Amino acid sequence: MSAVPLLEELKGLEGARVLLRVDFNVPMSGGEITDDLRMRLPLSTIGWLLDQGASAVTAVSHLGRPKGRRDPRYDMAPLRSHLRRLLEEEGLEAGRVTVGENLRFDPREEAGDLSLAEELCAGHDFFVNDAFGAAHRAHASVVGPPRFLPCAAGRVMAREVDVLDGLLHGPARPFVAVLGGSKVSEKLGVIEALLDKVDTLVVGGGMCFTFLAAGGHSVGGSLVEAEQVGTCRRLLESGHDIRIPTDLTVLSPGGAFGAGVEPSGEVRQVGEDVPDGWTGLDIGPGTAGEFSDAITEARTILWNGPMGVFEDPRFRAGTRAVAEAMAAASGFTVVGGGDSAAALAEFGLADEIDHVSTGGGASLEFIERGDLPGLEALREGRRR
Ligand code: 3PG
Ligand code: MG
Repeated sequence: MSAVPLLEELKGLEGARVLLRVDFNVPMSGGEITDDLRMRLPLSTIGWLLDQGASAVTAVSHLGRPKGRRDPRYDMAPLRSHLRRLLEEEGLEAGRVTVGENLRFDPREEAGDLSLAEELCAGHDFFVNDAFGAAHRAHASVVGPPRFLPCAAGRVMAREVDVLDGLLHGPARPFVAVLGGSKVSEKLGVIEALLDKVDTLVVGGGMCFTFLAAGGHSVGGSLVEAEQVGTCRRLLESGHDIRIPTDLTVLSPGGAFGAGVEPSGEVRQVGEDVPDGWTGLDIGPGTAGEFSDAITEARTILWNGPMGVFEDPRFRAGTRAVAEAMAAASGFTVVGGGDSAAALAEFGLADEIDHVSTGGGASLEFIERGDLPGLEALREGRRR
């Protein structure tokens, strides 16, 4: 992939007004921001722009999925006050930075309508895209502004592209990918792409049961995508080194599990066959050890997706083992956003990882395709 234009290529920032697309789509609970990483990281970009003399930075983002209309649940007010505080803590001049309206209050955003992009660009001299987490969306604010303004990628975007591109081109070997999460169907593209790149693919999480079924094992009441069993069998027989669990942690029939439910039922360790009516909800301790060893022995490791229902403490051990092995690994460690990043943060291990991506879907799509609409737009966009 050819490189994206960088901040240093923007000439004449003194006194300029900059439109900055960020991904401030932070997790919130009861109106409070529960993890502000996505707001803290672009401070380096904002700081640089202000340092270069930009007179105004207008940060624009989506928050949640309000479906094209105003929705008080996704009001930007808490983000505005939080950003002000972060800027002040960094000693940056908060008065030069404003946060625009939630982009997804306007139906033209998701429709990719260029009239919205043009409106956003009005009154600005440059466009900087630092919203890696949204770069896989061909939305108006992502792909539109580079047509109207000289543009560049911000620091967050540039670092993400650099790291993920490095995984695809010349990673230190062995290169191990650890995939979890619930659905095989959502990850087939990335699995196929990774099999050509990695030395070993390790599969846990809900999706391992479709692989176990493909391997002829009984899966009881576990999550299985019946229509993907054939595909998983073909993958298992493809000659690639694919590791699936050899033991499991299971819950008795009718047991309740998950976040915010009253836990019930009996929990047991079994081998690679789940008894009738029981549900597999985590990898077992033997598998956790095997997966950890694969991580420890690798020189490059990519992890995406939890190994079990980690929100429920009874099914957290597999994800914790993988997180701890990642944290302790001497190889280069990359975690692809979303749930795995949340798990790491919960275990207090995020700082031990070389690169935690700010984009879940975006990082997977980048690995799959080697490019993203937001990056293509920057590359084809205007220069100054
Ligand atoms: C994310 O949280 O993954 C990004 O902000 C993109 O949001 P979306 O999945 O709602 O497009
Ligand atoms: Mg998403």
